[in-house]
Amino acid sequence: MPKKYQILVCKGPECGDKRHAGDVHAAIAVELKSCPLNGNEVVLERYSCFGKCQKGPNVLVREMKPNENLRMILLMPTAGAGAYLYHLVKPEEARQIVLEHIANGRPLLELTRRK
Ligand code: FES
Repeated sequence: MPKKYQILVCKGPECGDKRHAGDVHAAIAVELKSCPLNGNEVVLERYSCFGKCQKGPNVLVREMKPNENLRMILLMPTAGAGAYLYHLVKPEEARQIVLEHIANGRPLLELTRRK
């Protein structure tokens, strides 16, 4: 059954201006258009800051559930079992994120552990 995912790329001054989070966002947008998603849907957005600027750019990928509390998620998008926050993401990793996590449902745990 197709799933729906949200991808949030931070855009605060530290990651956005100094660590090129915009390039990561643009690369993910390109891959979402070119990669097979296995019928899954994706909402790609920017997010102000995850409070992890020293490990930025940060990319949150989470599965959206039909009955989730959107107000709570807006306040704490990193909460919940289906949320994975990727650190120090490079534009060239966009394809791997889209193919593995979005298309195949396999989160990239090594990207969540980067320091
Ligand atoms: S701006 Fe990226 S985590 Fe703060």
